[in-house]
Parts: sequence; structure tokens; C-alpha cells
Amino acid sequence: MTTKRVVADLIVTGCGQLVTLAKSDGTPRVRSALKDLAIIADGALAVAGGRLISVGPRDVVLATTGTSAQTNHVDVGGAVVMPGLVDCHTHTVFADYRLDEYEWRVAGTPYAEIAARGGGIAKSVGHVRAASEAELLSRTRQRVHSAIRHGTTTIEIKSGYGLSLEHELKQLRVVRTLRDELPITVVATFLGAHAIPKEMAADREGYVQAVVHDMIPRVAAEGLAEFNDVFCEVGAFSREETERILRSGQRAGLKARIHADELTDTGGAELAASLGAVSADHLKKTNDNGIDRMAKAGVFGVLLPGTSFGLPSLELAPARKMVDAGMRLAIATDFNPGSSTSESMPMMTSIACSHMRLSPAEALSMATYNPAFVLGREGDVGSLEVGKRADFLVLDCRDYREVANHFGINPVARVFVAGREWVAA
Ligand code: NIG
Ligand code: FE
Repeated sequence: MTTKRVVADLIVTGCGQLVTLAKSDGTPRVRSALKDLAIIADGALAVAGGRLISVGPRDVVLATTGTSAQTNHVDVGGAVVMPGLVDCHTHTVFADYRLDEYEWRVAGTPYAEIAARGGGIAKSVGHVRAASEAELLSRTRQRVHSAIRHGTTTIEIKSGYGLSLEHELKQLRVVRTLRDELPITVVATFLGAHAIPKEMAADREGYVQAVVHDMIPRVAAEGLAEFNDVFCEVGAFSREETERILRSGQRAGLKARIHADELTDTGGAELAASLGAVSADHLKKTNDNGIDRMAKAGVFGVLLPGTSFGLPSLELAPARKMVDAGMRLAIATDFNPGSSTSESMPMMTSIACSHMRLSPAEALSMATYNPAFVLGREGDVGSLEVGKRADFLVLDCRDYREVANHFGINPVARVFVAGREWVAA
């Protein structure tokens, strides 16, 4: 008896380390499971219709996969092959980097003075408002192309530099256009509550009302975002304002995320747990109770090591404590024009290992498999398992630990998205 075998479009062999991150129970990796990357030596994978149809040792894959004259065979000569990186927190739609501010910051100018000189988020809001949608699109596209070259095949992008209905929608349309034109997975988050815009400084309640009554309903009605995020911080939005904004988003079908406890412990982690938020991000100042509450509620902590690296203080979230508490954790770039000016996820794993004391395996779990859950894409991306999208990277090395250890270079040699090699137009 012969069984009909699915014919592959693509078969990849010669994967010295095939880092699959497969996990049989399909739950997020926590504690010691973060270290188990489910690596197959001399592995292979097969793809049909953009999805993985076989992943395993070379002999098994070859014996169980059908081929035709059209099947593309790629031998990667012993390289590491791993899932595409999942960057679950970015602010990629901006116009210009804040380079003056960078000089001031490294010279030791305190943030309050930088803000008084017109720096910070307000500066980027001015840049975004002055830019046309076409201009923003072309700049953002270049940055996303660069992120893909560095291995990102799923990216979340927030608004938050418009701070008015018109300009927030403009930013989110840029994200939608990129989602529609690129083969990678692009996920949008509304961050109208990133700061109080200058023109509303005397009427913060008026701005919160505008977010709740004008922006969220419109964003939800136009399907422009899946998530609603708030910068909960002294000088940005209070805990109470954050709760109102996130609850109104939840009623409109937008899942909640919080920029929490970045500069001060505002109780953002506890709030995320009580609201059933998907994640709380930053968490540099989160206290033990916040960690415990998030772990119990299953809320993801998103660590943003680039933000710490970009500041002279190099103050980091207590990642080891969070792992030990059993928190669900991910790493992201926080790519933005001021505080974390890098789209490189490999670089984030480096900082996370060297300074947050994560192991290279833990960091890779937090940069692939776990963030897929944050974005609700765990059935599709984050690991190399049959049925998932064939988003994978061929690295310029033979040991996955080089991704973190060999910093300041791009370890990614080839990027495949849905089974096709990415070549920027
Ligand atoms: O996540 N913390 C708030 N917002 C951004 C930074 C925005 C900026 O500096 O432009 C962040 O780091
Ligand atoms: Fe951020």
C-alpha cells in the first residue's frame, strides 16, 4: 500500500542546528522550559503552500515528503536554522530620529531639561504631524525592510506620535498599508494615550475624553488596530486614566497592553493583572507584588533591553527574578526615534544576555515562541512546527548562541517568509 505524500514546494536540508522551539502542549515557555529550544541536529524542513509540512531529522523529512520537478531544494551547509524573530513592541512609524537629544543625553543632560528644550515624545509628534502619509510610509517601509534583514518576520507597530484623531489615524493607515503589502505579519496597536499633546496641556481630561470617545471608536470601527496601549507613568497617564482608556478599548474589542513601571513604580503591573491585559511592557521599576500578580494572572511581561541600553544609566528590568517567579516573558526592541533606536532583535538578545543575565536559549525563546502569544499569533508563528507558517532564518553561524554572543553584526544570512526567500524590491 502506498500513502499519498504531500508534495513540497521547498525542502531545506543541512541545518546543523535546526532550532525548532516546538512544544507539544502549545503553552508559553516559562521557567526552565525557556531553555529548551527543541534543537534537531542535521535537521530538515519541508514547505507547501507557505506552511511547514515536515520538520525533523533529515532522513525522516526526506523519507516522508513528496517532491516534484518544481520542488526547490536548498542545502544550507550546516548553518543554524531558526524561526523568524517576533518583535512584539515597536514604535516604527516616525519621521526622524532625535539626534540632538541623543547628544544631550550622552552628555548627561537630565530628561526634564531635554523635555524643557522641546525634546522627547513631543518632538516626534511635531515631526509626524508635519510629515505626509506618503512620506511616513516610505520611511517606515525602509525601517521594516531593515528589521526583516535582521530576522524579524512578525512585527507589532504602534501609533502614538500623532496624538490627535487625524494624525493617529494617519500613522495606523501606514501600518495597514505595510501589513497589506509585505509578506511578513504586521500587527497594529493604537497608542493615542502616549502623552498629552502640547495643545491640550491645560485640559488633560479633554484629551482623555477624546481618546475614549473619538479615537478608540473610530480606530475600532475602521479595524485599524488589534491592541490598545497606554503609557502609564508620572507625567503621562495616571493609573486611573490608564484604566478608563484600556477598559473603553476592551469594550470596543481592542486588547489591552500597558507601558508600565518604566521610570517609576506606578502600579502598572498590578493594573495589567487586574484588567486582564495581554502584557505589561518595560517593568524596570516593578515591585515584587507586581511580579507575583502578573505571574498568577498569566500576563506577559515584555522586556525592552534596548531602552535601557540607550540610556547611560543602563537600568534594567529584574528579568531573573521574573523568570524565577514563573512570569510569561518576551523581549522586544521598542524601536523608536528617541529611547531605543534599534530595529535589531539579535541585538536585543545580546543586551538581555549580557546585562539582564538571561541565557542565550532563554533570550531566543523570548524573541520567537513567547512573543507570538503576546500578539495572538501562536498558531501561526514563533516556532518551526507542522502547520505553522514557514517563516525561518538561515544564520551565518553554526551555534545558536552566537546570535547573542556575536553582537554588533547581523547574524542573519537568509530570511524566508511563508516559504519564500525575502528579497527587498
Ligand atoms: O516605549 N515610554 C514611552 N514611550 C516610548 C518612547 C517614546 C520616545 O521616546 O519617543 C518607549 O520607550
Ligand atoms: Fe514603547
